Amino acid sequence: MSLSNIANDPNKRMILFGGKGGVGKTSISSATAIYLAEQGDKVLIISTDPAHSLSDAFSQDLSGGEVIQIEGVDGDLCGLEISPEKGTEEVKHMLEEEGVSDELNQSLSMLGLDDLTSDLHQNTPPGMDEAVALSQVMQIARQGDYDRIILDTAPTGHTIRLLSLPEFLDSFLGRLLKMRVKLSNTLAFFKSMVGMEAEKDRSVEIMEKLKENILQIREDLQNHTETEFVVVSIPTLMSVYESERLLVALTEQNILVRNVVINQIMPRNESCPFCSARYHSQQEVLEYARQVFSDYVQTELPYLAEEVKGVEKLRKLASMIFSDA
Ligand SMILES: Nc1ncnc2c1ncn2[C@@H]1O[C@H](COP(=O)(O)OP(=O)(O)OP(=O)(O)O)[C@@H](O)[C@H]1O
Ligand SMILES: [Mg+2]
Repeated sequence: MSLSNIANDPNKRMILFGGKGGVGKTSISSATAIYLAEQGDKVLIISTDPAHSLSDAFSQDLSGGEVIQIEGVDGDLCGLEISPEKGTEEVKHMLEEEGVSDELNQSLSMLGLDDLTSDLHQNTPPGMDEAVALSQVMQIARQGDYDRIILDTAPTGHTIRLLSLPEFLDSFLGRLLKMRVKLSNTLAFFKSMVGMEAEKDRSVEIMEKLKENILQIREDLQNHTETEFVVVSIPTLMSVYESERLLVALTEQNILVRNVVINQIMPRNESCPFCSARYHSQQEVLEYARQVFSDYVQTELPYLAEEVKGVEKLRKLASMIFSDA
């Protein structure tokens, strides 16, 4: 089987690839992007990995945070590397500028509640980096300039963290908003007592907007017609277990997964004892993987002799990923 179910479904506009570190997410998402572009779709591949992995895979500089046309592809393929840290810095800056204000901070600390704002200012909520990056991705998706957007996500742990962010923010927000209301009443009371006018504080507004944005992202991710997640794994127990956990988390979040790719499968080679041992241990894991992933379309890819770098090698990988298209 292969990922042809995606290629043959033009409604699938947003395709996310995720899995443990080093399993081949960037290679497989890049190969998929080339295949779809050469099939005639207008494609944008986005990475939110700070390590500039797309630039490495395509052997072309795609860093710099701008959409760049990828060369050497017989079709319309663009790439974009988003730096998550940069996005988070911008949000922090915005919150400071717009005024999750000193006044609020001081008032909270007067009441002994300063841990709440230091949460926001010092330790950004978990998953914030990815949420900010994903928010940028979704904005691009909503503009509708591309037939397909391929997202090469950060390794598993981050993805799961990101998925739980709305709840986290919701509770965090709930706490903040409730206190804010109580506090503004108290402040207004004190201020009126000393004859001062209460100043307008936009923090509630900003936090509401952030929350709305994140809930919208989640809704987009849960759109089974347009969005699907492809889990990438390799035949080691560690990776397969982690993929099982990822599948549970994605299912809990109501995100569509139809495909599991198992990458880096060693060819049989009995003349080399090391290769043979690797081959047999992988085959055992594969047997287990085929069982536990039996609800999904499975695509098995061989371990290639060379790194998958540059359009030509990616195209070759794509021909294996879409072997029955
Ligand atoms: N089937 C394969 N055969 C040979 N080499 C491969 C294969 N798949 C991936 N690679 C190589 O393995 C390395 C890791 O692959 P890749 O960067 O795609 O993984 P990743 O999951 O994106 O990693 P990270 O989690 O670090 O982002 C790269 O050097 C890539 O060229
Ligand atoms: Mg990668």
